[in-house]
Amino acid sequence: MNWKLAGVVVAAALALPAQAQQSGEAVYKSVCMACHAAGVANAPKFGDAKAWAPLIKEGQAVLTAHAWVGVRGMPARGGNPNLTLEDFSKAVVYLANSAGGKWKDPDPKMLASIQAEEKKRIAELAKKK
Ligand code: HEC
Repeated sequence: MNWKLAGVVVAAALALPAQAQQSGEAVYKSVCMACHAAGVANAPKFGDAKAWAPLIKEGQAVLTAHAWVGVRGMPARGGNPNLTLEDFSKAVVYLANSAGGKWKDPDPKMLASIQAEEKKRIAELAKKK
């Protein structure tokens, strides 16, 4: 990468600080609703207990990590690179709980489990290539 380009990338990163500490509902409304309200591209719909039951069964750490990394039509980080893992996780909780889940906003222990699952998932995907 040439240095001028690197400077532009750094400036762009600084101009877009991570949006920390939003509620799951707020993140859902600003980022996820675009697809998960109507079920765009077969996204499991908000409140659809049948669609979410098998996903909730995967467990909070695994499901959150897979969604964070991206899966088929689901873009990594819901397509918003500025989301923190914590805020993204809260939005997953908000979605799961709309459809029968009883998850809690992630504590540091849960966030660590999600990050461990994220590493596993990335390694798995790299193997498939
Ligand atoms: C551009 C559309 C789009 C946006 C925006 C989006 N999703 Fe999704 N999401 C999808 C689609 C499509 C699927 C279904 C993927 C599949 O299984 O083929 C999905 C699946 C999921 C799943 C299940 C993943 C799995 O392992 O099957 C979760 C959890 C999820 N989304 C959470 C979120 C959260 C949280 C946000 C917001 C931060 C979000 N999504 C934003 C399209 C979107």
